[in-house]
Amino acid sequence: MMVAKKLFFSFSIILTCSWASGLQTVNGRIKITTVTTSACLDTVNFIRDELVPAYLTYMNYLDIEFIPWGRTVNHGNGTFTCQFGDNDCFANRLHRCVLDLLKGYDYMQVLYMACELSPPYPGFAQGSYACVREMGVDIAKANYCVNNPDRDTLDEAAEAAAAGPMATINFVPAIVFNNVIDVNDHNQARRRLSSMICFALAEDPTTGIFSCQI
Ligand SMILES: *[C@@H]1O[C@H](CO)[C@@H](O)[C@H](O)[C@H]1NC(C)=O
Repeated sequence: MMVAKKLFFSFSIILTCSWASGLQTVNGRIKITTVTTSACLDTVNFIRDELVPAYLTYMNYLDIEFIPWGRTVNHGNGTFTCQFGDNDCFANRLHRCVLDLLKGYDYMQVLYMACELSPPYPGFAQGSYACVREMGVDIAKANYCVNNPDRDTLDEAAEAAAAGPMATINFVPAIVFNNVIDVNDHNQARRRLSSMICFALAEDPTTGIFSCQI
């Protein structure tokens, strides 16, 4: 009897909370897209307090995408204006390049962005490739990419990918799950990302995740 009651109790908490966020797995996985900009403290806080801990706990179920574009304005003549000035534009371009060089390696991408968005903010504040080096990425390749934006379509791709989330969420970082833009999910992600993920995984019997904390 006690066991039955306890089971019922955990089950109802799971239902209530997963309904509250609406987040569900897709084929047993959750994709998290984060629109970033290099000098944004809300982005720093989100990566440090929410994304990194959630990733370290649930990485086997997560697909991670960063879009280092934030509130960038593209003047269409090869120049951009970024929220925190030219250094921000430089660092965001660096991030796009390095994330591309780390394509397919989510774990490295998370570590790289955590490095760039932590003091001393090497790319933004120092114009430094310290985090690039730390990830073992080829510095010459990264440097070539940074200096030759006309040789690839990383800027265009980031601009296109950031447009929807920024138009609807209008906040940096803008957080999107499974390519579905939802302001409520974005707001919850900034406070309780690990919990949201856990409840979504717990609702999917294929994941083997059963117990979560709110
Ligand atoms: C590009 O366009 C912006 C905005 O119209 C202008 O301020 C800037 O001078 C232009 N730069 C170049 C290199 O043409």
